[in-house]
Amino acid sequence: MNDGLFKKEWLTEVQEAQSRAYTPYSNFNVGALLITEDDEYIYGANIENAAYPASICAERSALVSAYSNNKRKFKAIVVVTDAPGPASPCGECRQVMKELCHDEMPVYLTSKSGEVIKRTVDDLLPLGFSGKDMD
Ligand code: THU
Repeated sequence: MNDGLFKKEWLTEVQEAQSRAYTPYSNFNVGALLITEDDEYIYGANIENAAYPASICAERSALVSAYSNNKRKFKAIVVVTDAPGPASPCGECRQVMKELCHDEMPVYLTSKSGEVIKRTVDDLLPLGFSGKDMD
């Protein structure tokens, strides 16, 4: 990926985030790396629960952590999973990205072998519902 923004080290960092996953039920580890406007890294991993719906995905984990630490402006988010190729965020995470990130923010879907697919928040949730729809 050579778009003038993506950094190769993000692949290593997102795998570090993934290594922090807690997945006794699915055994499917996901990592998310959120890059703040001042290049700080916020790590997210999926954290599961015996009551399955109480589990949280890696992407939302990173965003909740960022907001809780007073970081609200982001350059990009990078995701990696245990799938052989780049996997794509679930619907709930897309809706939360729509709420907390700007529509043109890049979402880099990666794999452990180094593949990178770039999309934006808007690409992943076209015509998404937001607070603006309630004006
Ligand atoms: N998962 C994520 O962390 N992010 C996604 O966007 C898709 C799914 C997690 C949830 C669950 O812990 C595991 O992957 C299997 O669904």
